[in-house]
Amino acid sequence: MAVLLLVQCTAQAASDQKPLVSRITQDFNTSLYTVSIKNGAPLVVDLAGSLVWSTCPSTHSTVPCQSGTCGAASQQGPPRCRYVDGGWFWSGREPGSRCVCTAHPFNPVTGKCSTGDLTGFAMSANTTNGTDLLYPEALTAVGACAPERLLASLPQAAAGVAGFSATPLSLPSQLAAQRGFGNRFALCLPVFAAFGDTPVYLPNYNPSGPFDYTKRIQQTPFLTNPRTPGYYLPVKGISVSWRGPSVPVSLPAGALDLDVRTGRGGVVLSTVTPNAVMRPDVFRAFAKAFDTVVVRDSGGRMAREAPGHRRFELCYGGAGGTSFTFPMMKWTGIDAPAITLQLGAGATGNWTILNSNYLREWSCVGVVEMGPEGMPVDGEPAVVLGGVQLENVLLVFDLDKRTLGFSRLLEWDLTSCYSATMFRYKLPTTQP
Ligand SMILES: *[C@@H]1O[C@H](CO)[C@@H](O)[C@H](O)[C@H]1NC(C)=O
Ligand SMILES: *[C@@H]1O[C@H](CO)[C@@H](O)[C@H](O)[C@H]1NC(C)=O
Ligand SMILES: *[C@@H]1O[C@H](CO)[C@@H](O)[C@H](O)[C@H]1NC(C)=O
Repeated sequence: MAVLLLVQCTAQAASDQKPLVSRITQDFNTSLYTVSIKNGAPLVVDLAGSLVWSTCPSTHSTVPCQSGTCGAASQQGPPRCRYVDGGWFWSGREPGSRCVCTAHPFNPVTGKCSTGDLTGFAMSANTTNGTDLLYPEALTAVGACAPERLLASLPQAAAGVAGFSATPLSLPSQLAAQRGFGNRFALCLPVFAAFGDTPVYLPNYNPSGPFDYTKRIQQTPFLTNPRTPGYYLPVKGISVSWRGPSVPVSLPAGALDLDVRTGRGGVVLSTVTPNAVMRPDVFRAFAKAFDTVVVRDSGGRMAREAPGHRRFELCYGGAGGTSFTFPMMKWTGIDAPAITLQLGAGATGNWTILNSNYLREWSCVGVVEMGPEGMPVDGEPAVVLGGVQLENVLLVFDLDKRTLGFSRLLEWDLTSCYSATMFRYKLPTTQP
């Protein structure tokens, strides 16, 4: 079987190839997001993952161990994880093959990993101009073979994981290197991912019609952790506000900083946990600020509910057993406090988390305290922002400039990821 020489091809990437867009769906049972790009089966979206991996046929192409691709794979090293198969997974390697490249597929939900051959996965996606879907194209991405057992805890239909981090073998990095369309991708959960430097047209109340939302969003530099892949926000402080002045979450200076020497701390984005997770010291201080704002700005009519009967610790209701709750607004959901992450130097605005980006079960705050088992990402971050915080927010990751563009909750602007114009038009049946 022919050996893959994918990295060599990337040098000749044409710079005029069109951006690609893939549908994302959310799995009902696990809340995980899958992307439909690999032929045959969806892959779980892992913003903090560095590889693409999937189960694969017993005979498959391999990548030579002297190649640049293999160098990139081995630089990532084996993650700290428990191996599902005692450390080695030999699947159908051709007899006599010697120098073939292996990598370490990692399941971000169970924290387990394996060792498998790097191979090429056939994929396809529609091209886009930001307004319409144009035509489907076939492509190939390099990824690791993994045993069936590594799929535990992933959605039933999923065949593996697509890493979206800023590392060379993540799905967005590979597509950018092959197609030369800009080392960028947009994520609009739970609906789509767009690869390359593309506008994203969304309609809203603007009478002149849909406009390119990527031009209307705030920007911040993102940070990376040398110890573990993922996107970190330079958060300096957190505050809570509702009807009155904002109340800062009382933390020592630097409490949220990422320490690049130890890999600890920081505020990291995760697509494999639905709720925000906070280190205990951060959670306690946050809960105190949230309580203060709810009591003060409801005029004492609302308070934290007694613990016990809800899934979340921070649930609010009428003080003294009355039936007060967060009121409903006409267009934009529930009227509840806003959580603001104050961003550091280089950001054009702060990151504001509004109602449906954190409220669960109507009146609970979907933020949980980090426990010894509850670590959705590797390392020991101060705060993890999960899927609920990232849904219906347009995110644009620029991996060259190392910036992240972010909208506020799109519903607040009377639009949504579902309204992207590219999903409203019929696809032409033939390629131009
Ligand atoms: C392209 O878009 C059409 C229309 O939405 C869809 O049916 C098709 O599955 C898409 N193709 C790929 C490869 O994603
Ligand atoms: C959800 O889980 C149940 C029980 O494990 C299973 O029967 C069902 O098919 C799953 N649904 C999906 C959409 O995966
Ligand atoms: C973020 O919030 C802080 C505190 O309210 C404020 O001083 C700062 O100017 C804001 N940053 C931006 C970029 O708006």
